Amino acid sequence: FPVEDIRNFSIIAHVDHGKSTLADRLLELTGTIDKTKKNKQVLDKLQVERERGITVKAQTASLFYSFGGKQYLLNLIDTPGHVDFSYEVSRSLSACQGVLLVVDANEGIQAQTVANFFLAFEAQLSVIPVINKIDLKNADPERVGKQIEKVFDIPSEECIKISAKLGTNVDSVLQAVIERIPPPKVHRENPLKALVFDSTFDQYRGVIANIALFDGVVSKGDKIVSAHTKKAYEVNEVGILNPNEQPTHKLLGFLGLLHMEVFNQRLEQEYNASVILTTPTVPYKAVLSSAKLIKEYKEKEITIINPAQFPEKSKVTEYLEPVVLGTVITPTEYTGKIMALCQARRAIQKNMTFIDENRVMLKYLFPLNEIVVDFYDSLKSLSSGYASFDYEDAGYQTAELVKMDILLNGNMVEELVTVVHREKAYTVGKSICERLKESLPRQLYEIAIQAAVGSKVIARETVKAYRKNVLAKCYGGDITRKMKLLKRQSEGKKKLRKIGNIEIPKDAFIKVLKTQ
Ligand code: GTP
Repeated sequence: FPVEDIRNFSIIAHVDHGKSTLADRLLELTGTIDKTKKNKQVLDKLQVERERGITVKAQTASLFYSFGGKQYLLNLIDTPGHVDFSYEVSRSLSACQGVLLVVDANEGIQAQTVANFFLAFEAQLSVIPVINKIDLKNADPERVGKQIEKVFDIPSEECIKISAKLGTNVDSVLQAVIERIPPPKVHRENPLKALVFDSTFDQYRGVIANIALFDGVVSKGDKIVSAHTKKAYEVNEVGILNPNEQPTHKLLGFLGLLHMEVFNQRLEQEYNASVILTTPTVPYKAVLSSAKLIKEYKEKEITIINPAQFPEKSKVTEYLEPVVLGTVITPTEYTGKIMALCQARRAIQKNMTFIDENRVMLKYLFPLNEIVVDFYDSLKSLSSGYASFDYEDAGYQTAELVKMDILLNGNMVEELVTVVHREKAYTVGKSICERLKESLPRQLYEIAIQAAVGSKVIARETVKAYRKNVLAKCYGGDITRKMKLLKRQSEGKKKLRKIGNIEIPKDAFIKVLKTQ
């Protein structure tokens, strides 16, 4: 394909605004998938994604489309929609020259619409606004067009109004892709330069990388080198996605609860693996206090990924925590409650804009650890689901941090070690102990659950002993029966994590983390 006949684009949207439905229509319209086969949402291939109805992992397809007597190759790069996955969005965008920004004609601009728009804008991509679901009874495409003009400074006439569900006007979307998005700039005569924006592993074929080509060409038999790791590979096969390739994962640490649950579910479903989850943590930093320590760590500032390696106060001049710039869009009636929630999360208000008569956009600087676990869920519940949220990186700020251990009968539970803000240590510690008490089954002996900062215990709960002994029934009796009972008991234990002699069911961790 001549480079000038290629377009690389993504669809970005707030959750549920219709990205996958539009992608399906585009695939149908270009004959990439068969309409009659009811291939609902081919791009959402993974089982979890189907079950939860959300896109988690970027998928890609190549479409052929004839327009004005010419055939074009349109590479559609799918992006995840949920707030927890914005890293994967930016990576996919770096392979594109333009985006379709899909906005629901009834809900209008939401927080992720804003965040996704700015990711595309900063990457200097052409943005084509698409107002979807115009078939809905409450659709108000005119109002949404005005919001788009006000918030993104894109003339409302540029909006394409469609119904992805019914297929209305979807062909003008493809034409706009050709007319408004520039072809990629590839210098085929230069040495190969490509970005791997996604990769998968196939047991039989090896690593399958989805690449965006910037310079040169790549063919079967070529020897290529990773610019990052300097490792060399041989190219066995070159292809495009039209639309099938089997995906696996490579995830970035957990960015939020949904991400964590989805990841856990994927591991279990796709790999039959059972995992124990740990507290989602953010990368804190510590500035070391002495030349000796700097020499020992080979760095002045160390990043603490694992809370268990948190350096004690005497070794550091200050601790730093990551902060993010959060955007909340909400109907005005919830503004008060949302401001109170943000304040409780140590957030600092930066901006407040009315995007139309009854919607407000709030910008706050949040410590990342305050939103990573359940902020999104709280926001949704106090706004009856109407407020939306997204965030972007905003560097680091000084913070009073302490390490908190959770002990069961004096033994530390590694999975639950957390770094918390000093002010919040007591509340967080108390809540973890209470949750743990609720989710730990009673066992043969009493269990003391303690939260401790250094050697100081700041919260405690007790799980009373479970008196009934399984073996009591066969006291003095039948040995085979006794063995059977013990065997059954040990099978039940496989899904358990043992701390000292206390057994913790795996889902107890999720329960504890969810409500921290
Ligand atoms: P994520 O994958 O979670 O990011 O969602 P999405 O943006 O891909 O949304 P999806 O395509 O799954 O659509 C969400 C819901 O809106 C589904 O129930 C669709 O059937 C519905 N929907 C999509 N487009 C239209 C439309 O044009 N009209 C109407 N009435 N419903 C639509």
